Amino acid sequence: MKGLILAGGKGSRLYPITYTNAKQLVPVANKPVLFRVIEAVRDAGIDAIGVVVGMDDNARQVREAVGDGSRWGVSISYIPQEAPLGLAHAVKISRDFLGDERFVMFLGDNVIQGGISDLIRRFETSAWDAQVVLTAVHQPQQYGVAELNEDGSIRRLVEKPREPRSNLALVGIYMFSQPVFEAVNSIRPSWRNELEITDAIQWLVDHDYRVQPYIHRGWWIDTGKAIDMLEANNRVLDEISHEVKGYADRDSQVNGKVTIEKGAEIINSVIRGPAIIGENTRIINSYVGPFTSIYHHCVIENSEIEHSIVLENCRIIDIPVRIEDSLIGRNVTITRSPIKPKAHKLVLGDNSQVGIL
Ligand code: G1P
Repeated sequence: MKGLILAGGKGSRLYPITYTNAKQLVPVANKPVLFRVIEAVRDAGIDAIGVVVGMDDNARQVREAVGDGSRWGVSISYIPQEAPLGLAHAVKISRDFLGDERFVMFLGDNVIQGGISDLIRRFETSAWDAQVVLTAVHQPQQYGVAELNEDGSIRRLVEKPREPRSNLALVGIYMFSQPVFEAVNSIRPSWRNELEITDAIQWLVDHDYRVQPYIHRGWWIDTGKAIDMLEANNRVLDEISHEVKGYADRDSQVNGKVTIEKGAEIINSVIRGPAIIGENTRIINSYVGPFTSIYHHCVIENSEIEHSIVLENCRIIDIPVRIEDSLIGRNVTITRSPIKPKAHKLVLGDNSQVGIL
């Protein structure tokens, strides 16, 4: 089987972070979501992976970060998509790469508990034409939604229905064989002018191809918005192991599941897990609370932070009020200003959000 990972799109729901950073490269527990997806596909025994990218700067970033895949022992080919014309369009333009093999398509911003090895095994040993992953969600109208027959087979799939007929959403992981190419060539663009994969799968159902649903019972997160990134971070941190490769001095307390990466230093501070402190980051006279990921080359000094994600090269210094529920981009400095007048002095990118006490 081959793998097809989708890593295009603007990530507008994650602005301002995604003005300068492809959304698939935003780290969850200090590892880009896209790397987690590549590892899940590789762990399922697939070593030929196509990555669909846009034609903008994000694409360049993805190529630079991922390279040829040798780091994971896989071979990666890039498939440029001229515009975000839909998931079914991505399948269409990947025809040459996929050839006659069956494949798994995985959205590069999805994080799923337990990987996909079992799903791939089920599909590989079956005669099904497609397998789709469904999971119960609270707001089905934000997703593709499946309605099942009494025997558990699929009756109908609708993309973002106003009045959902079930709470079963399509997770961004799909397995297909050859008939999907006829399907993607037969459907028409939706109201949002995209070729919807949901419509292609409905086409397969309508033409009596065997589309097998699988109901996923663990957690699954589509990391579209900042709140979803934080939620994914919680879930993944909950599963990390306690591992100290860096240095914590005698005056510090490191409690619970905490990973301290190479070259990190914890000085006179409290780290309460689950948390991860990235390479060459320094935490000095500070508190880092549960569900926090601090990426590499940061300095946190005389400050408190909890339930947050901080990207690389940030400096958070002398902030007396605890920072919580925050997603902080690269190279950000948060510090006190001694210069009069006493005031909040902010330089924020477009679409930033700041909550002040
Ligand atoms: C896409 C699919 C949708 C699916 C979702 C999962 O939505 O069209 O059916 O439920 O991914 O993340 P989009 O992210 O394009 O809105």
